[in-house]
Amino acid sequence: MNRFFLLISIMLMSLACSENTILQSPGKKIGIEFSLTDDGEPKYSVTVEGQPFIMPSAMGLIASDTTYSLSSGFKLVSVKHASADETWTQPWGENKTIRDTHNEMAVLLKNSTGVSLTVRFRAFDDGIGYRYEYDINKTNDIVITDELTEFRFASEATSWSIPANFDTYELEYRTMPLSEVENANTPITFRTETGIYASVHEAALTDFPEMTLIKEDSTAFRANLAPLPDGTKAVVSGKFITPWRTVQIADKAVGLINSSLILNLNEPCAIENTDWIKPMKYVGVWWGMHLGVESWVINDRHGATTENAYKYIDFAAENNIQAVLFEGWNEGWESWGGRQNFDFTKPYADFDIKKVISYAKSKGISVINHHETGGNIPNYEKQLDKAYSWSHELGMPAVKTGYAGGFPDGYSHHSQYGVRHYRKVVQTAAKYETMLDVHEPIKATGIRRTYPNMMTREGARGMEWNAWSDGNLPEHHTMLPFTRLLGGPMDYTPGIFDILYENIKDNPNRKQWNMKDSKDCRVNTTLAKQIACWVVLYSPLQMASDMIENYQGHPAFQFFRDFNADCDWSEALAGEPGEFVSIVRRAGEEYFLGSVTDENPRKYQLPLSFLKDGVTYQATFYADGADADWKTNPTSYRIYQKTVTSNDSLDVEMAAGGGQAVVFKPIN
Ligand code: NOJ
Ligand code: CA
Repeated sequence: MNRFFLLISIMLMSLACSENTILQSPGKKIGIEFSLTDDGEPKYSVTVEGQPFIMPSAMGLIASDTTYSLSSGFKLVSVKHASADETWTQPWGENKTIRDTHNEMAVLLKNSTGVSLTVRFRAFDDGIGYRYEYDINKTNDIVITDELTEFRFASEATSWSIPANFDTYELEYRTMPLSEVENANTPITFRTETGIYASVHEAALTDFPEMTLIKEDSTAFRANLAPLPDGTKAVVSGKFITPWRTVQIADKAVGLINSSLILNLNEPCAIENTDWIKPMKYVGVWWGMHLGVESWVINDRHGATTENAYKYIDFAAENNIQAVLFEGWNEGWESWGGRQNFDFTKPYADFDIKKVISYAKSKGISVINHHETGGNIPNYEKQLDKAYSWSHELGMPAVKTGYAGGFPDGYSHHSQYGVRHYRKVVQTAAKYETMLDVHEPIKATGIRRTYPNMMTREGARGMEWNAWSDGNLPEHHTMLPFTRLLGGPMDYTPGIFDILYENIKDNPNRKQWNMKDSKDCRVNTTLAKQIACWVVLYSPLQMASDMIENYQGHPAFQFFRDFNADCDWSEALAGEPGEFVSIVRRAGEEYFLGSVTDENPRKYQLPLSFLKDGVTYQATFYADGADADWKTNPTSYRIYQKTVTSNDSLDVEMAAGGGQAVVFKPIN
């Protein structure tokens, strides 16, 4: 090489080196470094407080057409750094006002196969996100066969997760060393040996399959996307953007709950007028069916009758509850589990829907519509527009959907096919000013920021499991806030007061309809824990799920009467995954504090410094009785009051499998 060329190549090299491929979070807590291997493969690594947290990990996708390389042969073209510090608001949420402070690094790569890839990184003080923005020099669709993204965690950790499954999230949580996790759904949360809490998830899942994690070796994982029936993963156009791959990071477990990273990585609201979107409390004709004393299908045990509807509407009106849900109102339930041919505009003969809605309206109550699809997507999509316009015209502000059943033609719920369908429903619902509560949904990834009509969803084992299986363990509710709910609200449907099903035990109408003999079933809880779950398990459509007879005249139902499904501000105050958690929410001038524990009784103090200074509050406690125990004495509870200020501390006292809820009302 002559001297001239040597000089030029040194200059070029230093130019490349001068591109700053290190990104730091605004408070310098978290660092991301990008690099290219000798083969032009992109890699990233992450540090927390200067210590290695994610070791160099692979990035990129694979296309079936191997003339296009989506993950190697890249050269660095440019690196652009940017910063943001903005505050935005949403019509509802755990917090109505959210601050987004991050630094961004957009790394532009090109290779000789005509592929441009921008890897966009964002570093926040509460975690990181990155996504792939591909521009492939090809007009036709590209088939994606795999994702190479790795998370090579630097140390062993204790983890909390459910297994990966492309059709259901209704699985039990596992606590296990990270190195023993073979595969996991996200959010998967863990605490490293050095005490860092983190959770891997994704944000803004749009037109792509869901990401799960699969073990590579020791504490290293790779993305495993939900497949299409032919085993490929996605069909995308030449220009496409993936969802964000996210890792929330905090020094306390509650820091993960208090993080807004997932919402910050979603697009702003796409709905111009959001006045029709409002959090609501609701009751419904629901639990009776799960217990087997009523039926969805029309017969002599039919739950959704006009007569029963009137009773629920009266109850809602008398108890400061805004809405009522009636499942089994429409034709098609006889085909559930079979052809799944539901009709979404044809009420059963004993349910006069117009009369029911107009009666509800006269009492100021909203009717929540219900669409069980049984997983028959073609049947639902065929009726979608008609069903939502009909529902809207009749005056129903919300629809609860359900996908209890397999999708046709080998498609899985969480595949790109599923993601597209669920989004289509959100958009159709938005067109007809309808709020959504989705059961058997796609995972929550913060889409509610863009479409705030996407209120709540299931996507984990909910209350129903207690009706017809061994039920959810006491620790379940201490897992959800640190895992599933990091993605967004959950329609768990808490609030069963008849915990041992005493009031229906001798009901001659009771029929087993699902799995295990429901005669042995119960809810694994204390009564106070049911109340606390209304606060802890955030849902802007929050249900009191028991049959109304079990609330009538019950002193502890006063909590739900006082509770507000809307909320302005929230904070998780204390907790550890799988053990306990305390969360407080403010709605207007009132505060609601909920605490739940696993199978262990607990006592601790919480400073009330979140209350407004200089204001005296009357605090009403809904607590476990002194002799309460989820196994032996679940219905023992105490209601008592105290006068408190922000200078005081509060005693949280919970029985085994118990909880505690407190309402704070200003009195001066
Ligand atoms: C499963 C849902 O989670 C539940 O809430 C609903 O009652 C049934 N499917 C029937 O739609
Ligand atoms: Ca379900």
